[in-house]
Amino acid sequence: MAKPVLVSGIQPSGRLHIGNYLGALKNFVELQDSGKYECYFFIADLHSLTEAFDPKEKPKQILELVADFLAAGLNPRKSTIFQQSQSPSHTELAWILGTLTPMGDLRRMTQFKEKSEGEKETSNIGLFYYPVLMAADILFCDAKFVPVGHDQLQHLELTRTLARKFNSKFGRTFVEPQPLLTKTPRVMSLMNPEKKMSKSQPEGCLFLDDSPEEIKKKIGRAVTDSGSEVKYDREKKPGVSNLLEILSSFTGKPILQLEKKFRGKNYATFKAAVAEEVSEKLAKFRSKKAELRNKTSALRAVLVKGSGMASVAASKKIQEAKKRIGIAL
Ligand code: AMP
Ligand code: TRP
Repeated sequence: MAKPVLVSGIQPSGRLHIGNYLGALKNFVELQDSGKYECYFFIADLHSLTEAFDPKEKPKQILELVADFLAAGLNPRKSTIFQQSQSPSHTELAWILGTLTPMGDLRRMTQFKEKSEGEKETSNIGLFYYPVLMAADILFCDAKFVPVGHDQLQHLELTRTLARKFNSKFGRTFVEPQPLLTKTPRVMSLMNPEKKMSKSQPEGCLFLDDSPEEIKKKIGRAVTDSGSEVKYDREKKPGVSNLLEILSSFTGKPILQLEKKFRGKNYATFKAAVAEEVSEKLAKFRSKKAELRNKTSALRAVLVKGSGMASVAASKKIQEAKKRIGIAL
Protein backbone atom coordinates (compact mmCIF):
# COMPACT_ATOMS: atom_id res chain seq x y z
CA MET A 1 0.00 0.00 0.00
CA ALA A 2 1.16 3.54 -0.71
CA LYS A 3 2.66 5.38 2.25
CA PRO A 4 0.77 8.37 3.66
CA VAL A 5 2.08 11.69 2.36
CA LEU A 6 3.61 14.29 4.66
CA VAL A 7 4.52 17.88 3.79
CA SER A 8 5.97 20.94 5.49
CA GLY A 9 7.84 24.11 4.62
CA ILE A 10 9.97 26.79 6.21
CA GLN A 11 10.43 30.37 5.02
CA PRO A 12 13.89 31.47 3.86
CA SER A 13 13.96 34.66 5.88
CA GLY A 14 17.02 34.44 8.06
CA ARG A 15 18.84 32.07 10.36
CA LEU A 16 16.90 29.19 11.93
CA HIS A 17 16.52 29.21 15.71
CA ILE A 18 15.96 26.36 18.13
CA GLY A 19 12.19 27.04 18.03
CA ASN A 20 12.20 26.15 14.32
CA TYR A 21 14.37 23.16 15.12
CA LEU A 22 12.58 21.70 18.15
CA GLY A 23 9.12 22.63 16.87
CA ALA A 24 9.59 21.52 13.27
CA LEU A 25 12.91 20.60 11.62
CA LYS A 26 14.04 17.95 14.13
CA ASN A 27 10.68 16.28 13.68
CA PHE A 28 10.99 16.45 9.86
CA VAL A 29 14.15 14.36 10.11
CA GLU A 30 12.67 11.82 12.52
CA LEU A 31 9.56 11.42 10.39
CA GLN A 32 11.65 11.06 7.23
CA ASP A 33 13.89 8.45 8.87
CA SER A 34 10.95 6.44 10.21
CA GLY A 35 10.41 5.35 6.60
CA LYS A 36 6.65 5.43 7.16
CA TYR A 37 5.85 8.45 4.99
CA GLU A 38 6.30 9.86 1.54
CA CYS A 39 7.85 13.19 2.47
CA TYR A 40 7.88 16.62 0.83
CA PHE A 41 9.85 19.44 2.47
CA PHE A 42 10.11 22.83 0.86
CA ILE A 43 11.53 26.32 0.98
CA ALA A 44 8.53 28.66 1.31
CA ASP A 45 10.11 31.47 -0.69
CA LEU A 46 6.81 32.95 -1.87
CA HIS A 47 5.59 33.22 1.70
CA SER A 48 8.81 34.96 2.67
CA LEU A 49 8.08 37.80 0.20
CA THR A 50 5.30 39.02 2.49
CA GLU A 51 7.91 40.60 4.77
CA ALA A 52 10.58 43.19 3.92
CA PHE A 53 13.51 41.61 2.08
CA ASP A 54 16.55 42.42 0.00
CA PRO A 55 16.53 40.75 -3.46
CA LYS A 56 20.32 40.40 -3.28
CA GLU A 57 20.01 38.42 -0.04
CA LYS A 58 17.14 36.16 -1.08
CA PRO A 59 19.16 33.62 -3.13
CA LYS A 60 21.59 33.28 -0.23
CA GLN A 61 18.74 32.79 2.23
CA ILE A 62 17.21 30.09 0.02
CA LEU A 63 20.45 28.11 -0.34
CA GLU A 64 21.29 28.63 3.33
CA LEU A 65 17.97 27.02 4.26
CA VAL A 66 18.69 24.05 1.98
CA ALA A 67 22.02 23.71 3.83
CA ASP A 68 20.09 23.84 7.13
CA PHE A 69 17.75 21.09 5.91
CA LEU A 70 20.62 18.83 4.87
CA ALA A 71 22.79 19.59 7.92
CA ALA A 72 19.87 18.66 10.19
CA GLY A 73 19.56 15.32 8.38
CA LEU A 74 17.03 15.70 5.58
CA ASN A 75 18.11 13.56 2.68
CA PRO A 76 17.14 14.21 -0.95
CA ARG A 77 17.23 10.47 -1.61
CA LYS A 78 14.54 9.92 1.00
CA SER A 79 12.48 13.13 0.71
CA THR A 80 11.46 15.50 -2.06
CA ILE A 81 13.11 18.82 -1.17
CA PHE A 82 11.87 21.69 -3.32
CA GLN A 83 11.43 25.40 -3.82
CA GLN A 84 7.83 26.59 -3.62
CA SER A 85 8.08 29.23 -6.37
CA GLN A 86 9.39 26.66 -8.85
CA SER A 87 6.12 24.74 -8.74
CA PRO A 88 3.78 27.19 -10.49
CA SER A 89 0.65 25.11 -9.98
CA HIS A 90 0.84 25.95 -6.27
CA THR A 91 -0.11 29.55 -6.90
CA GLU A 92 -2.75 28.53 -9.42
CA LEU A 93 -4.32 26.22 -6.86
CA ALA A 94 -4.11 28.99 -4.28
CA TRP A 95 -6.22 31.22 -6.55
CA ILE A 96 -8.93 28.60 -6.84
CA LEU A 97 -8.92 27.96 -3.08
CA GLY A 98 -9.06 31.73 -2.51
CA THR A 99 -12.41 31.86 -4.29
CA LEU A 100 -13.76 29.56 -1.56
CA THR A 101 -12.28 31.54 1.34
CA PRO A 102 -14.36 34.12 3.22
CA MET A 103 -12.41 37.32 3.96
CA GLY A 104 -13.56 37.10 7.58
CA ASP A 105 -11.69 33.83 8.04
CA LEU A 106 -8.43 35.45 6.93
CA ARG A 107 -9.00 38.60 8.96
CA ARG A 108 -9.29 36.45 12.09
CA MET A 109 -5.87 34.82 11.65
CA THR A 110 -3.63 35.63 14.62
CA GLN A 111 -0.49 35.81 12.47
CA PHE A 112 -2.13 38.29 10.09
CA LYS A 113 -3.38 40.42 12.98
CA GLU A 114 0.06 40.49 14.59
CA LYS A 115 1.98 41.18 11.41
CA SER A 116 -0.36 43.86 10.07
CA GLU A 117 -0.84 45.60 13.41
CA GLY A 118 -0.95 49.36 13.09
CA GLU A 119 -0.85 49.28 9.27
CA LYS A 120 -4.31 48.03 8.35
CA GLU A 121 -4.52 49.66 4.92
CA THR A 122 -0.87 49.60 3.91
CA SER A 123 0.07 46.03 4.83
CA ASN A 124 0.46 43.88 1.72
CA ILE A 125 -2.28 41.58 0.43
CA GLY A 126 0.19 38.68 0.45
CA LEU A 127 0.18 38.78 4.23
CA PHE A 128 -3.61 38.46 4.18
CA TYR A 129 -3.64 35.74 1.52
CA TYR A 130 -0.74 33.82 3.12
CA PRO A 131 -2.90 31.01 4.66
CA VAL A 132 -4.57 30.28 1.30
CA LEU A 133 -1.20 29.72 -0.38
CA MET A 134 -0.27 27.55 2.58
CA ALA A 135 -3.43 25.48 2.00
CA ALA A 136 -2.37 24.97 -1.64
CA ASP A 137 1.11 23.90 -0.44
CA ILE A 138 -0.53 21.14 1.55
CA LEU A 139 -3.43 20.07 -0.65
CA PHE A 140 -1.39 19.75 -3.87
CA CYS A 141 0.18 16.46 -2.78
CA ASP A 142 -2.74 14.86 -0.88
CA ALA A 143 -0.81 15.24 2.38
CA LYS A 144 -2.31 13.46 5.35
CA PHE A 145 0.18 14.91 7.85
CA VAL A 146 1.82 18.31 8.34
CA PRO A 147 4.56 18.65 10.98
CA VAL A 148 4.57 22.27 12.20
CA GLY A 149 4.91 24.37 15.32
CA HIS A 150 1.94 25.55 17.35
CA ASP A 151 1.77 28.94 15.59
CA GLN A 152 0.67 27.25 12.35
CA LEU A 153 -2.31 25.34 13.73
CA GLN A 154 -4.82 28.01 12.82
CA HIS A 155 -3.60 27.99 9.21
CA LEU A 156 -3.90 24.23 9.14
CA GLU A 157 -7.46 24.41 10.39
CA LEU A 158 -8.28 26.70 7.46
CA THR A 159 -6.66 24.17 5.10
CA ARG A 160 -8.94 21.47 6.46
CA THR A 161 -11.98 23.71 6.07
CA LEU A 162 -11.06 24.53 2.46
CA ALA A 163 -10.50 20.86 1.59
CA ARG A 164 -13.91 19.98 3.05
CA LYS A 165 -15.62 22.86 1.32
CA PHE A 166 -14.12 22.04 -2.08
CA ASN A 167 -14.94 18.34 -1.71
CA SER A 168 -18.55 18.93 -0.74
CA LYS A 169 -19.11 21.52 -3.48
CA PHE A 170 -17.29 19.82 -6.36
CA GLY A 171 -16.75 16.19 -5.36
CA ARG A 172 -14.01 14.43 -3.46
CA THR A 173 -10.65 15.88 -4.59
CA PHE A 174 -8.53 16.83 -1.58
CA VAL A 175 -7.34 15.01 1.54
CA GLU A 176 -7.97 16.70 4.91
CA PRO A 177 -4.56 17.01 6.58
CA GLN A 178 -3.70 16.65 10.26
CA PRO A 179 -0.99 18.52 12.15
CA LEU A 180 1.89 16.68 13.81
CA LEU A 181 3.21 18.57 16.83
CA THR A 182 6.39 17.89 18.78
CA LYS A 183 6.64 17.91 22.57
CA THR A 184 7.86 21.50 22.29
CA PRO A 185 5.53 23.06 19.73
CA ARG A 186 6.08 26.52 21.25
CA VAL A 187 9.60 27.36 22.32
CA MET A 188 9.57 30.71 24.10
CA SER A 189 11.91 33.69 23.72
CA LEU A 190 14.94 33.65 26.03
CA MET A 191 14.47 37.33 26.77
CA ASN A 192 10.69 37.25 27.15
CA PRO A 193 9.40 33.78 28.05
CA GLU A 194 5.78 34.94 27.71
CA LYS A 195 6.34 35.25 23.94
CA LYS A 196 7.33 32.65 21.37
CA MET A 197 10.88 32.61 20.08
CA SER A 198 10.70 34.41 16.75
CA LYS A 199 13.04 35.62 14.00
CA SER A 200 11.40 39.03 14.32
CA GLN A 201 12.88 39.32 17.84
CA PRO A 202 16.44 38.07 17.31
CA GLU A 203 17.58 39.09 20.81
CA GLY A 204 15.47 36.26 22.31
CA CYS A 205 16.63 33.62 19.80
CA LEU A 206 19.20 30.90 20.05
CA PHE A 207 20.28 30.27 16.47
CA LEU A 208 21.24 26.82 15.26
CA ASP A 209 24.65 27.98 14.08
CA ASP A 210 25.48 30.07 17.16
CA SER A 211 28.94 29.21 18.50
CA PRO A 212 29.24 27.44 21.89
CA GLU A 213 30.41 30.78 23.37
CA GLU A 214 27.33 32.58 22.05
CA ILE A 215 25.07 29.80 23.33
CA LYS A 216 26.65 30.05 26.77
CA LYS A 217 26.33 33.81 26.83
CA LYS A 218 22.71 33.83 25.64
CA ILE A 219 21.51 31.12 28.00
CA GLY A 220 23.43 32.77 30.83
CA ARG A 221 21.52 35.98 30.14
CA ALA A 222 18.14 34.27 29.63
CA VAL A 223 15.38 35.70 31.78
CA THR A 224 14.68 33.45 34.75
CA ASP A 225 12.17 33.93 37.48
CA SER A 226 12.10 34.97 41.09
CA GLY A 227 12.97 32.23 43.54
CA SER A 228 15.88 29.89 43.11
CA GLU A 229 14.37 26.46 42.54
CA VAL A 230 14.70 24.65 39.20
CA LYS A 231 11.05 23.68 38.94
CA TYR A 232 8.59 23.35 36.06
CA ASP A 233 5.71 25.79 36.38
CA ARG A 234 4.62 27.46 33.12
CA GLU A 235 2.58 30.12 34.92
CA LYS A 236 4.83 31.11 37.80
CA LYS A 237 8.21 30.18 36.33
CA PRO A 238 7.96 30.66 32.56
CA GLY A 239 11.70 31.28 32.08
CA VAL A 240 12.93 28.22 33.96
CA SER A 241 10.15 26.09 32.46
CA ASN A 242 11.19 27.11 28.95
CA LEU A 243 14.81 26.13 29.65
CA LEU A 244 13.63 22.83 31.13
CA GLU A 245 11.60 22.12 28.00
CA ILE A 246 14.56 22.97 25.78
CA LEU A 247 16.82 20.69 27.82
CA SER A 248 14.25 17.91 27.80
CA SER A 249 13.85 18.13 24.00
CA PHE A 250 17.57 18.07 23.36
CA THR A 251 18.29 15.21 25.75
CA GLY A 252 15.08 13.20 25.39
CA LYS A 253 14.88 13.06 29.20
CA PRO A 254 11.55 13.75 30.91
CA ILE A 255 11.15 17.06 32.76
CA LEU A 256 10.54 15.27 36.08
CA GLN A 257 13.90 13.55 35.85
CA LEU A 258 15.62 16.86 35.06
CA GLU A 259 13.92 18.61 37.99
CA LYS A 260 15.28 15.88 40.24
CA LYS A 261 18.76 16.21 38.80
CA PHE A 262 18.86 19.95 39.52
CA ARG A 263 17.17 19.84 42.93
CA GLY A 264 19.11 22.07 45.32
CA LYS A 265 21.25 23.50 42.47
CA ASN A 266 21.17 27.20 41.63
CA TYR A 267 20.12 28.82 38.35
CA ALA A 268 23.72 29.42 37.27
CA THR A 269 24.61 25.71 37.49
CA PHE A 270 21.38 24.79 35.70
CA LYS A 271 21.95 27.30 32.91
CA ALA A 272 25.54 26.17 32.41
CA ALA A 273 24.31 22.58 32.03
CA VAL A 274 21.62 23.62 29.50
CA ALA A 275 24.18 25.60 27.48
CA GLU A 276 26.61 22.69 27.43
CA GLU A 277 23.98 20.19 26.35
CA VAL A 278 22.59 22.46 23.58
CA SER A 279 26.10 23.22 22.23
CA GLU A 280 27.01 19.58 22.22
CA LYS A 281 23.80 18.48 20.52
CA LEU A 282 24.21 21.18 17.86
CA ALA A 283 27.91 20.51 17.23
CA LYS A 284 27.25 18.00 14.47
CA PHE A 285 24.77 20.35 12.82
CA ARG A 286 27.27 23.24 12.97
CA SER A 287 30.10 21.32 11.36
CA LYS A 288 27.90 19.79 8.66
CA LYS A 289 26.44 23.18 7.85
CA ALA A 290 29.92 24.73 7.62
CA GLU A 291 30.87 21.98 5.19
CA LEU A 292 27.75 22.41 3.06
CA ARG A 293 27.12 26.12 2.91
CA ASN A 294 29.62 26.91 0.16
CA LYS A 295 28.64 24.00 -2.03
CA THR A 296 26.10 26.17 -3.75
CA SER A 297 25.84 24.18 -6.97
CA ALA A 298 25.11 20.97 -5.07
CA LEU A 299 22.50 22.77 -2.98
CA ARG A 300 20.94 24.22 -6.11
CA ALA A 301 20.87 20.78 -7.73
CA VAL A 302 18.89 19.37 -4.80
CA LEU A 303 16.24 22.03 -5.34
CA VAL A 304 16.10 21.66 -9.11
CA LYS A 305 15.51 17.93 -8.87
CA GLY A 306 12.95 18.18 -6.05
CA SER A 307 11.11 21.08 -7.65
CA GLY A 308 10.72 19.10 -10.87
CA MET A 309 9.14 16.25 -8.94
CA ALA A 310 6.84 18.50 -6.91
CA SER A 311 5.76 20.35 -10.07
CA VAL A 312 4.62 17.13 -11.69
CA ALA A 313 2.51 16.20 -8.64
CA ALA A 314 1.10 19.73 -8.38
CA SER A 315 0.18 20.03 -12.04
CA LYS A 316 -1.66 16.72 -11.89
CA LYS A 317 -3.65 17.90 -8.90
CA ILE A 318 -4.50 21.26 -10.45
CA GLN A 319 -5.80 19.50 -13.56
CA GLU A 320 -8.01 17.34 -11.38
CA ALA A 321 -9.29 20.42 -9.52
CA LYS A 322 -9.92 22.28 -12.79
CA LYS A 323 -11.92 19.36 -14.14
CA ARG A 324 -14.02 19.25 -10.98
CA ILE A 325 -14.92 22.92 -11.20
CA GLY A 326 -15.66 22.75 -14.90
CA ILE A 327 -12.88 24.87 -16.38
CA ALA A 328 -10.84 22.09 -17.99
CA LEU A 329 -12.58 21.66 -21.34
P1 AMP B 1 8.97 29.82 9.77
O1 AMP B 1 10.38 30.14 9.96
O2 AMP B 1 8.03 30.88 10.22
O3 AMP B 1 8.70 29.37 8.37
O4 AMP B 1 8.67 28.57 10.72
C1 AMP B 1 9.13 27.29 10.44
C2 AMP B 1 8.57 26.27 11.39
O5 AMP B 1 9.05 26.51 12.71
C3 AMP B 1 7.05 26.25 11.51
O6 AMP B 1 6.59 24.92 11.56
C4 AMP B 1 6.78 26.96 12.80
O7 AMP B 1 5.57 26.56 13.39
C5 AMP B 1 7.96 26.52 13.63
N1 AMP B 1 8.27 27.48 14.70
C6 AMP B 1 8.58 28.80 14.55
N2 AMP B 1 8.81 29.38 15.74
C7 AMP B 1 8.63 28.41 16.69
C8 AMP B 1 8.73 28.37 18.12
N3 AMP B 1 9.07 29.45 18.82
N4 AMP B 1 8.48 27.19 18.75
C9 AMP B 1 8.15 26.07 18.04
N5 AMP B 1 8.04 26.05 16.70
C10 AMP B 1 8.27 27.19 16.02
N1 TRP C 1 3.66 29.28 7.11
C1 TRP C 1 4.68 28.37 7.53
C2 TRP C 1 5.56 29.03 8.59
O1 TRP C 1 5.78 30.19 8.59
C3 TRP C 1 5.53 27.91 6.36
C4 TRP C 1 4.69 27.15 5.40
C5 TRP C 1 4.25 27.60 4.19
C6 TRP C 1 4.17 25.84 5.59
N2 TRP C 1 3.49 26.63 3.60
C7 TRP C 1 3.43 25.54 4.42
C8 TRP C 1 4.28 24.88 6.59
C9 TRP C 1 2.77 24.32 4.27
C10 TRP C 1 3.61 23.66 6.43
C11 TRP C 1 2.88 23.38 5.26
O2 TRP C 1 6.05 28.34 9.41
